[in-house]
Amino acid sequence: MESHAVCSEQKPHVVCVPYPAQGHINPMLKVAKLLHAKGFHVTFVNTIYNHNRLLRSRGPHALDGLPSFRFESIPDGLPETDVDATRDIPALCESTVKNCLTPFKELLRRINAGDDVPPVSCIVSDGCMTFTIDAAEELGIPEVLFRTTSACGFLAYLHFYRFIEKGLSPLKDVSCWTKEHLDTKIDWIPSMRNLRLKDIPSFIRATNPEDILLNFFVRESDRAKRASAIILNTFDDLEHDVIQYMQSILPPVYSIGPLHLLENRHIDKDSDMGRMGSNLWREETECLDWLDTKSRNSVVYINFGSLTVMSVKHLVEFAWGLAGSGKDFLWVIRPDLVVGEDAMVPSDFLKETAGRRMLASWCPQEKVLSHQAIGGFLTHSGWNSTLESLSSGVPMVCWPFFAEQQTNCKFCCDEWEVGMEIGGDVKREEVETVIRELMDGEKGKKMREKAEEWRRLAEEAVEHKLGSSNVNFETLVNKVLLG
Ligand code: UDX
Repeated sequence: MESHAVCSEQKPHVVCVPYPAQGHINPMLKVAKLLHAKGFHVTFVNTIYNHNRLLRSRGPHALDGLPSFRFESIPDGLPETDVDATRDIPALCESTVKNCLTPFKELLRRINAGDDVPPVSCIVSDGCMTFTIDAAEELGIPEVLFRTTSACGFLAYLHFYRFIEKGLSPLKDVSCWTKEHLDTKIDWIPSMRNLRLKDIPSFIRATNPEDILLNFFVRESDRAKRASAIILNTFDDLEHDVIQYMQSILPPVYSIGPLHLLENRHIDKDSDMGRMGSNLWREETECLDWLDTKSRNSVVYINFGSLTVMSVKHLVEFAWGLAGSGKDFLWVIRPDLVVGEDAMVPSDFLKETAGRRMLASWCPQEKVLSHQAIGGFLTHSGWNSTLESLSSGVPMVCWPFFAEQQTNCKFCCDEWEVGMEIGGDVKREEVETVIRELMDGEKGKKMREKAEEWRRLAEEAVEHKLGSSNVNFETLVNKVLLG
């Protein structure tokens, strides 16, 4: 581990505020750990709802923290219900905008009034939690916004207002969102080529000028201009043109990813800090033992992240497609993956695939993707999953669900040449064919070679001293957070 850069009496104090969802908490925790390794005192602020969930999934001491790394929580403003309220994304976004600033400011006041920790000197907040900017401006401290999506996804969000100006969204009703409209060429976002409307983050598909998510992303993207800097979990070689263009329209943009690789370089996995985790579900590690019994590149890994939901019909099509492919597979099925029902796969499917499959409800994904046995990934194209796959050299079949996953999928397939898209209304025959191609076909072979190139470049990006993400992280710390 690197030695602390700042001695304790001068410790700067960073408050890290993730958006309350798994795909945002994970990368923010990595940023927080890296800043701690640089000598910062860290306060990590979850919502009360997620704070309690983490205590359930990771044990009662999971959030005890360390003297210089503390966990705090604020309410998300949603009513308490029996169902997971954070799955109602429009309600959650609306609530954070309206309700979180006051408790956040109270928290900062309480921290600064105490004499047990240094005063707050900077904030690193999720780019979808920009209420924090108001608090930072009031205190006169730097605020760094962390957009946890790809640069290409973020650039598309930054242009949402232009889609509205051009009359491309919102449309009168769902029936207007035809295939023809979705095929509209989008050739006016600088640095992004060959796009169609269907590749733009799904929240563009609105039918009402008051649409909560459409307006949320216009607002949050616009407020990014007030930040001291923007950080992205990507690397320069991967999204060079998009990042370059972004530099011309935003405060300084630093690409500091892949964060899980940067974390591996700077944080000792066996230290207290290394063991600190953020999984909202309990990890089932048995799948790693199962993978140990399999040969190189022989297993298909299927996981749709933390928020995707599907119909039981689609679950069954995926199941029979996997059965038909004849390949070994590890399939992670969250208990709440199917809309309105328990996620149950057909018993005949279980019988037919016994001996060549492992099912789990949540797994240690970074370890799974870097396991030599994994030969391909059927994914929803969430940004963390995409980056973890790319930087492990694993090619993908993409079934984007929502948000900027559509954009990630497009870039995976056409720009980075590591993915094949599968139809939204998925059919078992297509799953079977595409999995066979991924694992044994010519296209799959080319994608694996390309993914291997990206893996090498991702490793280079986090190299000590000269790696672009490592250099960017140093600059961020010295120029923006300590500057
Ligand atoms: C999404 C996406 O980040 C993004 O496309 C969108 O903006 C909204 O949020 P999510 O759908 O959860 O998040 O996907 P992803 O970005 O892939 O993040 C999931 C994270 O959970 C990854 O870091 C992954 O390693 C981890 N994970 C997932 C596990 O550790 N175990 C699992 O079984 C599944």
